[in-house]
Amino acid sequence: HFHREIPEGLRQLPGPSSLPIIGNLLELGNKPYLSLTEMSKRYGDVFQIQLGMRPVVILSGYKTVKQALTKQGDDFAGRPDLYSFSFVNDGKSLAFSTDKAGVWRARRKLAYNALRSFSSLEGKLPEYSCLLEEHICKEADYLIKELQNVMTTEGKFDPFRYIVVSVANVICGMCFGRRYNHHDQELVGLVNLAEDFVKVAGSGNPADFIPALQYLPNKSMKKFVNINNRFNNFVQKIVSEHYATFDKDNIRDITDSLIDHCEDRKLDENSNIQMSDEKVVSIVNDLFGAGFDTISTALSWAVMYLVAYPEVEKQLFEEIKEKIGLDRSPVLSDRNNLPLLESFILELFRHSSYLPFTIPHCSTKDTSLNGYFIPKDTCVFINQWQINHDEELWKDPSLFIPDRFLNADGTEVNKLEGEKVLVFGLGKRRCIGEVIARNEVFLFLAIIIQKLHFYKLPGEPLDMTPEYGLTMKHKRHYLGVAMRPKDEQ
Ligand code: HEM
Repeated sequence: HFHREIPEGLRQLPGPSSLPIIGNLLELGNKPYLSLTEMSKRYGDVFQIQLGMRPVVILSGYKTVKQALTKQGDDFAGRPDLYSFSFVNDGKSLAFSTDKAGVWRARRKLAYNALRSFSSLEGKLPEYSCLLEEHICKEADYLIKELQNVMTTEGKFDPFRYIVVSVANVICGMCFGRRYNHHDQELVGLVNLAEDFVKVAGSGNPADFIPALQYLPNKSMKKFVNINNRFNNFVQKIVSEHYATFDKDNIRDITDSLIDHCEDRKLDENSNIQMSDEKVVSIVNDLFGAGFDTISTALSWAVMYLVAYPEVEKQLFEEIKEKIGLDRSPVLSDRNNLPLLESFILELFRHSSYLPFTIPHCSTKDTSLNGYFIPKDTCVFINQWQINHDEELWKDPSLFIPDRFLNADGTEVNKLEGEKVLVFGLGKRRCIGEVIARNEVFLFLAIIIQKLHFYKLPGEPLDMTPEYGLTMKHKRHYLGVAMRPKDEQ
């Protein structure tokens, strides 16, 4: 790359000088979102570092990122071929693989349509507006019972351990038409290994950039390969059961609808995208994987913030009590009516920025940005954390202040402010689960805040330092939770 001639009128990318072999890996450190935010102050919105053998372009600043991912979306819509990504979904991942534009676009559309139709489908019971709402309300009830049990027997609980099972069940319901109980060893074991996955899949993992490291013993990489295998086996078993019981006249869930699509495709002479059945059906791996870790991490952080800011928890409860009352459970259509809760969720996304970088992108052709030349096949990191903490966009960005998103009289969310929070990416690769995710985070929270009060346990200090990864998690923690007293209810 360094020897490529820069086309006339374009400039060479700025950036720090680098060491042989490792490049700038040491400067990246174990909190790359912080070190790269610092570097952006020095080198600007578009700069280049060297990670091992590879040059990597780092994008910061809302305007620059928006320009790259939306206006020049096709130029930046690729994924780099990283070693760790080759293990995800057996190399056939929709989100992580290097599928070329045509195949990726066709798969993305299939995934998007399947998600949309199965979340908005009518629920089985008339009291729910859609299947998504039905799954969430039922899982929230199970969760509340489970938390009461564990408080009775152990007097404390680990929020991620329980939330992840509830959230996994919602997406399991849509993808596979089934749920698991909170003590099912297979599911609980699998979803509680999410940390092992996200640590290695985070941007800037040395093994992805220094090929020699792939041949040395590497504990976290071993765990990563292992969890991917377990995950694929888990889904594969369910998919086989679906093939065995498939009935074209009774499409039960997303897996069935993908199998059905393969059948239809064989009859369609005009279908011009060549794709194996496996590439179609394995889309369900991505939906299940992306659908449980991201949302459970959000909710687990939410509970931590509720405990860290008890006065905020109180205001949120008061809002629900006043707007919904305590006689019925919240539903999705209450979302527009709870501006405090909406602001809390926005501030949680912004302040934690627990998805600090999007999944890495890759340039699909020679291009340029802000006057700098970027050659084809360059790996690109998008620093969402920087945007969410940019002092030019936010007042006191390091403080947790949900009210910053409310209008002057506190009755409505300021939509424009809310749109500045970047957690789902932008443009062509933007998250396809965003609508579901925002609804699900809202409804789970509304239900548990209405019924439960969370608190810090004596002798258990709250440590809110995130552990770096694709999604950043708080350390495993014990908290207390109680049903709200009957006179409140
Ligand atoms: C991609 C965030 C929930 C499915 C992404 C990306 C981000 C993201 C940052 C990468 C964007 C990029 O590379 O530029 C989130 C957050 C969630 C969430 C914060 C929850 C709060 C979900 C859910 C689903 C989902 C519930 C599906 C059930 C996907 C898929 C992709 C993706 C399939 C890959 C898209 C592609 O590569 O074209 N998400 N997501 N996500 N997300 Fe989500």
